[in-house]
Amino acid sequence: MNTLFQNKKIIVAGGSSGIGLAAATQFEEQQAQVTVTGRNTDKLKAAAETGLLTAVIDSSDRETLDTFFKNHGPVDHLVISLSGSKGIGNFEALSLQVLREGFEEKYWPVLNTVQAALPFINKGGSITLVTAISATAQLPGTSGLAALNGALEIMVPVWAKELTHIRINAVSPGVVDTSWWNFLPEQEKHETFKQYAAQIPAGRVGKPGEIAHVILFLAANEYMTGKVIGCDGGMS
Ligand SMILES: NC(=O)c1ccc[n+]([C@@H]2O[C@H](COP(=O)([O-])OP(=O)(O)OC[C@H]3O[C@@H](n4cnc5c(N)ncnc54)[C@H](OP(=O)(O)O)[C@@H]3O)[C@@H](O)[C@H]2O)c1
Repeated sequence: MNTLFQNKKIIVAGGSSGIGLAAATQFEEQQAQVTVTGRNTDKLKAAAETGLLTAVIDSSDRETLDTFFKNHGPVDHLVISLSGSKGIGNFEALSLQVLREGFEEKYWPVLNTVQAALPFINKGGSITLVTAISATAQLPGTSGLAALNGALEIMVPVWAKELTHIRINAVSPGVVDTSWWNFLPEQEKHETFKQYAAQIPAGRVGKPGEIAHVILFLAANEYMTGKVIGCDGGMS
């Protein structure tokens, strides 16, 4: 068994489902002490049943985050996998109010989490963000998501130069089968995945565990910092 993360303290913000949960599970398999956060208590309860530690945290609430890290630090590795699905659609008809809500859902909560955690991350530790390939893939209908995720991706190398005692990276996934897509009815989601699969060199959409592998690589490799790594089956 790989024990690279044995006894390491890891927080996965947005770890109660999807990519975050898959990463938390893989860290736990390597005997790390993993806490996942989220807002929905049922999802957190299900995560706790698998042995993960849990905390009800809304990452848009800075005060709660500050208290959490004060009580929970020091931390070795932080993963931020907070969702935000608002802001999709061709720009001509895109509601700027909805795009603003997209930034409220993901951009500001990610920044809140990074800032609240920074004083509590051990020297040699890491932060890994989960962004999205829409930042660079130039797909029609994704300019809003490109702005939101691109705004995060562009900060990563700058942070890496400012914060030389820790490492900071991002993984930028393509289409992944998670509850992020639950805004679509089941049949429509199935059809959408089929359409994407036809355009993706790997021939299918991704699995959360495949993105989680990249997260663990970025947390483990002491020579990786300031990088955004795409994991999209060749989509971009
Ligand atoms: N799935 C894809 O195709 C895809 C593609 C590219 C990028 N991504 C990115 O991957 C990341 C993870 O998404 P996912 O696909 O794994 O979706 P997911 O299954 O919906 O997971 C999102 C997680 O974030 C938590 N969360 C959301 N807002 C939060 C907040 N304000 N405070 C605390 N926790 C919060 C959710 O729990 P609660 O709802 O209980 O709070 C959940 O644990 C997102 O940033 C998404 O943009 C996904």
